[in-house]
Amino acid sequence: MSSCTSHKTEVSSPNNNIRLAFNIDDEGFMSYNIKVNDSIFIDDSQLGFEAKDGLNLSNSFEIIKTEFSSKDETWEQIWGENKIIRNHYNEMAVHLANIDSIYLTMRFRLFDDGIGFRYEYCVKDIDKIILTDELTTFNIRNNGVSWSIPASFETYELLYRTLPLNEVDNANTPFTFKTQSRRDAETQSIYASIHEAALTDFPEMTLGLRPAKDERLKTKDIEEKFKVQGSEFKVQLAPYPDKTKAIFEKDNFISPWRTIQISDKAVGLINSNLILNLNEPCVLEGDLSWIRPMKYVGVWWGMHLGVESWVMGDRHGATTENAKRYIDFAADNNIDAVLFEGWNEGWDSWGGRQNFDFTKAYADFDIDEIMRYAKTKNVEVIGHHETGGNIINYENQLEDAYRWTKEKGINCVKTGYAGGLPDFHNHHGQHNVRHYRKVVETAARHHITLDVHEPIKPTGIRRTYPNMMTREGARGMEWNAWSEGNPPEHHVMLPFSRLLAGPMDYTPGTFDILFDNTRNSPLRKKWNDNDKGNSRVNTTLAKQLANWVILYSPLQMASDMIEHYEGHPAFQFFRDFNPDCDWSEALQGEPGEYVAIVRRAGEDFFLGAATNGEAREIEIPLSFLSCQLSAVSGQQSVYEATIYSDGDDAHWETNPTSYKIEKMTVSSNDTLFIKMAAGGGCAVVFKIEN
Ligand code: NOJ
Ligand code: CA
Repeated sequence: MSSCTSHKTEVSSPNNNIRLAFNIDDEGFMSYNIKVNDSIFIDDSQLGFEAKDGLNLSNSFEIIKTEFSSKDETWEQIWGENKIIRNHYNEMAVHLANIDSIYLTMRFRLFDDGIGFRYEYCVKDIDKIILTDELTTFNIRNNGVSWSIPASFETYELLYRTLPLNEVDNANTPFTFKTQSRRDAETQSIYASIHEAALTDFPEMTLGLRPAKDERLKTKDIEEKFKVQGSEFKVQLAPYPDKTKAIFEKDNFISPWRTIQISDKAVGLINSNLILNLNEPCVLEGDLSWIRPMKYVGVWWGMHLGVESWVMGDRHGATTENAKRYIDFAADNNIDAVLFEGWNEGWDSWGGRQNFDFTKAYADFDIDEIMRYAKTKNVEVIGHHETGGNIINYENQLEDAYRWTKEKGINCVKTGYAGGLPDFHNHHGQHNVRHYRKVVETAARHHITLDVHEPIKPTGIRRTYPNMMTREGARGMEWNAWSEGNPPEHHVMLPFSRLLAGPMDYTPGTFDILFDNTRNSPLRKKWNDNDKGNSRVNTTLAKQLANWVILYSPLQMASDMIEHYEGHPAFQFFRDFNPDCDWSEALQGEPGEYVAIVRRAGEDFFLGAATNGEAREIEIPLSFLSCQLSAVSGQQSVYEATIYSDGDDAHWETNPTSYKIEKMTVSSNDTLFIKMAAGGGCAVVFKIEN
């Protein structure tokens, strides 16, 4: 780490491709702009906050001093897409003060793969700060195309929209878009994604179109050829019921990082580690072997289809007998763990104010016998804490629930927040961000890992608390059971948007794509008005396999009921699959169109490729296989590739289960030709031969 002081207020990325300038105008208002490849990418954009009680957090600022520093280090994580990560940036810390004795450090970090900045405020002689608005804007210079879900402070389980930038009114983050820059009279594409990192004690941010552009911030040098303007988005913070945004019972606060990942290729966004690099290092100490990636199956899909129930009764899924059947299946199929939903009391009042009991199993779920049996089979049990949104009830039991769970021998818990929060709080406000944080810390103390459904969006907390392993936070498999489902493009949107923020428990792998055996069952219950009674999975079978690789989750589920896997040749892919990868690379792709991602786990490689509703052929050079060279003393390795692809007559809509399995001997000099059906995909296992 090197450091020096000056009054310059510009900083560039280590490779000089990205440059950020910080400015202050005559009235002490702050702004920033960003150039990529020497042309304006983010035009002058506003900075600051508004607060209650006359606190002036936005203007009359003067620079006290500016400090520059740089860092280039590598660090290791115990699990992740990549275990070794390079953290290489230039930092500019602008120290400011205003006439109201407000001190602020604007900290900017520029990486080769994007930027992050955050606010560090300190107010003299005050014991409470109440924020009412964040003024940060992202004034995107040129128009382009964007891929996002709408802004909502309650849910991320929404469908993606592909829209021109200047037609987006509001969006959730990661907000991904493509625009252009010009260098030496050439037009170049820039892919970018706006998000946040280290959301620990703040409301989440979404983006809203800034209604009226402030003339003061308009640049005057717009080049003729680039007159088609992009859009200026302003941060919108999830509010408290009284419309205030954040409350700090102290004289200072630090905002999350506001981030923009930037790359000249769409897959560059996926390969970026910017979000993790902007989080604090791991705070957990000692032996962390209790945190480990796992493959799992669960008593789950049957409930979403309506053929089983969470509640105790005729159709109850989580019975001792069924639990043992799932444990046997896991043991026989190289699967680490089994999830049981509907195991505890409280499901009877679903839909009302839920009062689950997290230490009381239903009478027909003999937890001690199940745990004893699982142990003999060397299978882990994943616990389930559905809160129904009643976080008061959950917090009242938190300590006891996690102690009890650990004592039973359970090391991993899936939580859920399906329902409105008490007292009119919304899901993504500071109040609930604090709740999620409390759960992560409590679980860590009890050495329990987490898979959170209906979560706050990921912002890289997994670096600091690696027991926070995976989460939902987008439309997952469940939507296929009881709604119009997730369209074929959905799975090739997620890697370029939601998954830029962190792992997702999508729960891929439904083999019974048309649910013919359940659709007409008299046991099937209508869920809600979305339930058309003819739901299905909108992909081919091969794409279901590919999604296990593409949709990264260190806890990776095979979602279907196990009877649909028994004897199925394609299930061999999941038996072989290793979720504990140590290196990954997104090779090719465009948001909403297609993607190909490879991961290495030990000596094996796993490749997943998928397409939207269009059939597609791609060529994948296998040069990545040579990144194993060191492990085999520099020798060129030969691999057996087992390729699971769409059948020649496959189509997601008309013939989704047509697939084929081929074997081939390949090396890093070869190129793989992949043919994907409409809504299809391809999954490949590479195992070393020599
Ligand atoms: C919604 C979750 O996403 C799903 O996985 C779970 O089964 C239900 N809530 C019930 O907890
Ligand atoms: Ca959900």
